[in-house]
Amino acid sequence: MRLTREVRDTWLQHEQRSHGRKNGYVTKGQAERLDKWLPKISLHREDRVQDKIPRDVLLGVEIGFGNGEFLAELTQQYPEYYFVGVEIYLPGIAKAISRLDACDNIERVRVSQLPAQYVLAQQVEPNSVDMIHVNHPDPWPKKKHHHRRIIQKEFANVLASRLKLGGILSLASDIDELAIWMRDILDEVPDLVNEAGKGGFVPRPEGRIVTKFEERGMKAERISQFLRYRKVGANT
Ligand SMILES: C[S@@+](CC[C@H](N)C(=O)[O-])C[C@H]1O[C@@H](n2cnc3c(N)ncnc32)[C@H](O)[C@@H]1O
Repeated sequence: MRLTREVRDTWLQHEQRSHGRKNGYVTKGQAERLDKWLPKISLHREDRVQDKIPRDVLLGVEIGFGNGEFLAELTQQYPEYYFVGVEIYLPGIAKAISRLDACDNIERVRVSQLPAQYVLAQQVEPNSVDMIHVNHPDPWPKKKHHHRRIIQKEFANVLASRLKLGGILSLASDIDELAIWMRDILDEVPDLVNEAGKGGFVPRPEGRIVTKFEERGMKAERISQFLRYRKVGANT
C-alpha cells in the first residue's frame, strides 16, 4: 500500500524515486509501524541530531542501512549507544522499523531518509560521533557513474570531521574495486588512520553478522573486504 500523503510529506522528505527504484509502497503492517514510529524517531530536514538525543550519550551512525539487520544488531551489541540510521530507500526503512520495533531498541534510534551527505554535513555536529558504519555501499561499477559512489574525497572529510577523537569509521564491500576505491580515498584523509596500515584491509570482525548484500556477494563467490579507520587528529 501507499503511505498517506500526510505521512509522506511530514516524515519522508526524499521519497518518490531513488536511482529509478519505486520508493513509496509498503505493506499494511509496515505502514502501521511507520505511522506509530516515524513521529517519534524520524529526523526532519531542519533537525539537529544532537537536539533529538539525550546529552552526552555515545552515538553511532549507519549509512545506507538497507533492511536494518546490521542496525538492529548494533543496538543489541551496544546498549549504551544511540544510533542514527540513514537510508534513502523507503522499503528499507519500513523493514528496519519493523525489525527494530521487534527487538525493542527502537527508542535509541533516529532515522533519516535524506541522503547521508546532507545528514552528516548539516544535521550532525562536528566531533560528536563515536562510530560510523558504511556496509556494502552501492558500487556504481560504470566509470561514468563513479561520481555517485558515496565515498568521495569531500564526503570522506565530512565523515572524519563528525567523528570524535578516537572515533571509528568501519566500512565493508564485497566489490574489490570499490573496496580499493574507498581505501585509497580514506587513506589520504589527514585525521584518519587505517588500522590495518596504509593500503591494508582488516580481517572480518569476529561475530559480525552477514548483511543481505554481503550474503549476495558470497553467493556470487565474492569475498568481502573490511576497512577500519580511527580518528587521530582534529584538523578536519
Ligand atoms: C547495496 S545496499 C547495502 C545495504 C546494507 N548496508 C547491506 O549491507 O545489506 C546500499 C544501500 O545504500 C543506500 N544508499 C545509497 N545512497 C545513499 C545515500 N546517499 N544516503 C543514504 N543511503 C544511501 C541504498 O538505498 C541501499 O539501501
